[in-house]
Amino acid sequence: FDVVDVIRTKRDGHVLSLDEINWVIDAYTRGVVGEEQMAALAMAIFLRGMNPDEISQWTQAMIDSGETMDFSALPRPTADKHSTGGVGDKITLPLAPLVAAFDVAVPQLSGRGLGHTGGTLDKLESIPGWQASISNEHIMHMLGEGAGAVICAAGAGLAPADKKLYALRDITSTVDCVPLIASSIMSKKIAEGTGSLVLDVKVGSGAFMKDLGKARELAQTMVNIGASHKLHTVALLTDMSTPLGNMVGNALEVRESVEVLAGGGPADVVELTLALAQEMLAAAGKPDEDIEAALQDGRAMDRWNQMIREQGGDPTAPLPVAAHTHQVVAEADGYLTELDALSVGVASWRLGAGRAAAGEAVQAEAGIELHAKIGDPVRKGQPLMTLHTQTPERFERALESLVGGYTIGESAPTPRESVVFERLA
Ligand code: URA
Repeated sequence: FDVVDVIRTKRDGHVLSLDEINWVIDAYTRGVVGEEQMAALAMAIFLRGMNPDEISQWTQAMIDSGETMDFSALPRPTADKHSTGGVGDKITLPLAPLVAAFDVAVPQLSGRGLGHTGGTLDKLESIPGWQASISNEHIMHMLGEGAGAVICAAGAGLAPADKKLYALRDITSTVDCVPLIASSIMSKKIAEGTGSLVLDVKVGSGAFMKDLGKARELAQTMVNIGASHKLHTVALLTDMSTPLGNMVGNALEVRESVEVLAGGGPADVVELTLALAQEMLAAAGKPDEDIEAALQDGRAMDRWNQMIREQGGDPTAPLPVAAHTHQVVAEADGYLTELDALSVGVASWRLGAGRAAAGEAVQAEAGIELHAKIGDPVRKGQPLMTLHTQTPERFERALESLVGGYTIGESAPTPRESVVFERLA
């Protein structure tokens, strides 16, 4: 094949053949197709799209670019969850040990935050001693004989074509494209070898997909890829117009996750954790468990403590606390009617919870503690949120991103019925 012909085919709106897709992904992974050529092809795909067969083959070619894992020898079924990312989305932390408490193994290969969305590994690294990178043998041991859940960094060997392509998309404005996002996420999950997959597709200002129609299209595309690869996949569309829970940041989100594991925690975090656990257990053949009981009676907490210890962490060690705080107070009496996920996410990022470029260190201590959620009555002068950072010169820029990010109205807004909008399978 000639890469220029492949680019022209897609540029002119035609369908790529399966052989062309296999060839171009393989040649790109080996460096035979150049970054500038893949950039042109990605933009052609962005503008022209791909049909379901092309998307399925594109995903397969990315899986074939690297190694795959196989959990079929484990004595337990496996179930995994993937979130498209949000603000305050710490659900993986309580969810993985909760599901493991029902003897379903949870191989949760996770990532780091980039931009305003937090990364699961960054959060867990605020626990003293905890290690994100562990060997495949240790993963298998934890899933088979250990805690039954593992949250760790994906090895470099899974879908290397996606790693290259994602970095390229990031700098060529070709990230927010349904076929490319769907194939990127699903190639990693299929290569990981999970037995079933539950997708948490976020909708709203703090998410990739700002509106429900686009989020539905992304979710359906991923469910279809799963079906074409014999991976049982369910998607929930969930609200990311406002932050999840009361804590945004690394150590702060661990603290809130531990509250959920202790049977408490904010209602929205508990609701979403239970909804996703229900889907994962049903997919693994256990639809009728009393999931909430495992949060109340300590079974999920026991799994959490074991999981953290098996990765070198000390679950009893105090979490790091920020040296500097700043309170934002209500300027009037009324009700909190809006609290924008993106504004809060950007503010937390600017406080040091996230990074501006890949590879930077994050502050474990930084983030935002919310004292009021949408619908809560507030009094003038009452604290709405506390900003946390190690570097107080960051307060100013963080406060700028909160301007217009929340509204106090005279009457209470209509309460949201559920954090879950829709289910697709
Ligand atoms: N997350 C991914 O893994 N890939 C994308 O393309 C977008 C989000």
